[in-house]
Amino acid sequence: MTSFQDFGLADPIARALHDENYRTPTPIQAQTIPLALAGRDVIGIAQTGTGKTASFALPILHRLLENRVKPQSKTCRVLVLSPTRELSGQILDSFNAYGRHLRLTATLAIGGVPMGRQVRALMPGVEVLVATPGRLLDLVQGNALKLQHVEFLVLDEADRMLDMGFINDIRKIVAKLPIRRQTLFFSATMPKDIADLAAQMLRDPARVAVTPVSSTAERISQRIIQLDHAAKPAALAEILKQETVGRALVFTRTKHGADKVVKGLAKAGIAANAIHGNKSQNHRERVLAAFRSGEVRTLVATDIAARGIDVDGVSHVVNFDLPNVPETYVHRIGRTARAGAEGVAISLCAGEEIAYLRDIEKLIRVALPKEDRRSPGQRDTSPAPQRGGRHGPQPHAARGSDGNPAPKRSRRRRRYGNGPSPASRPEPLRAAAGKSEGRNEGRNEGMQGVAFMQRDSRPLRRNPNQRPQQ
Ligand SMILES: Nc1ncnc2c1ncn2[C@@H]1O[C@H](COP(=O)(O)OP(=O)(O)OP(=O)(O)O)[C@@H](O)[C@H]1O
Ligand SMILES: [Mg+2]
Repeated sequence: MTSFQDFGLADPIARALHDENYRTPTPIQAQTIPLALAGRDVIGIAQTGTGKTASFALPILHRLLENRVKPQSKTCRVLVLSPTRELSGQILDSFNAYGRHLRLTATLAIGGVPMGRQVRALMPGVEVLVATPGRLLDLVQGNALKLQHVEFLVLDEADRMLDMGFINDIRKIVAKLPIRRQTLFFSATMPKDIADLAAQMLRDPARVAVTPVSSTAERISQRIIQLDHAAKPAALAEILKQETVGRALVFTRTKHGADKVVKGLAKAGIAANAIHGNKSQNHRERVLAAFRSGEVRTLVATDIAARGIDVDGVSHVVNFDLPNVPETYVHRIGRTARAGAEGVAISLCAGEEIAYLRDIEKLIRVALPKEDRRSPGQRDTSPAPQRGGRHGPQPHAARGSDGNPAPKRSRRRRRYGNGPSPASRPEPLRAAAGKSEGRNEGRNEGMQGVAFMQRDSRPLRRNPNQRPQQ
């Protein structure tokens, strides 16, 4: 399948793809679009920035057109769930772009903004609704929306949607959907137990993984700087000044940390903005728009910006703090090197973060190049590599990235300690060797071998009664 024409997509959709300058389907598109057009449920896994959005949006639009009926009042035909407001907005934009010749009715249901407009938009019924789960449930409970007529359900960032922070809301939503529907799950990562959970919500799903699960995007040049905690602000300023930085996205573990980094950068003469869950939705939208337009070149963010966000020209991702959930690393650095572009990911690693780094390297099966800038007294303080028990103290783990209780990682670590089962044993690390090895590996497996490779791990553990921020 080398051309979009081969899919037989309806003419208005094909014209929109031409407008978008999409010439060749990406591997995940080539493999999943025919399955989805045939009505199959699909679990689609592919690296960040490889076009998963179109993989679900295009076949759904085509199928809507095959049976164009007016949606009933307060209903939607397509329901797309995503973990953040910003990603939901972006997915809606994609549907509107691919559906620009269709006179599509599509709207957004996200938190942080008044409900009135959303209630009014849903009144006549819409074809496509993109939502975060909390607001969606509020609308359902307020009788502004009925879910009995949903024909297509999409979970983008499926593993995040099914982790403990979201699962209660998702279960409630799925319970209200018709059993006869088409369900599509997409993500770049899919821990095995989450894949098992997903399987309960899909009907005989086709599983498509174009690269090993959790492999980092091709063409990202990754490196680690080991340093003392106190040296991080200066190291960040140096990176942003010296590297050939176009647009940079800097990730911190906490909201407070993000604000602190912005202040530190200002002192170093670097203008930056922060986006995190404590900012108003209005501010979040303004800042992201300014980053998209290039008006702001450095955006400091918590993990609300880690998943799915597609901004052209992000040349650098800097992890000011390493994430304690290794999948998050894959998503964060995937904000660069999208749609075939190149990108650089630099991670600052201090003290106990060495344990997070080991988890990350196990997950992505790459030994990352490291530069050691630690002061001599600090070099021996990091916990020695160990196969059992926890990786030393985790002072950051008290709270998750956006103030949610931190996920407990101990079960995964214990499992390593007990000796992984053959199926779950991590593959040997390949050397990072710049980026070429991973790239070739991905490419070889990309189009030819469709394998669904799973990794044994645990989902995030959060207080199940606490709704995640959306
Ligand atoms: N066939 C194509 N040809 C050219 N560009 C494409 C094609 N498909 C998608 N793109 C572009 O690639 C970029 C990444 O797409 P998308 O956001 O869907 O990636 P993704 O796989 O969902 O990534 P993530 O895992 O980070 O969510 C977008 O800017 C999109 O417009
Ligand atoms: Mg995506």
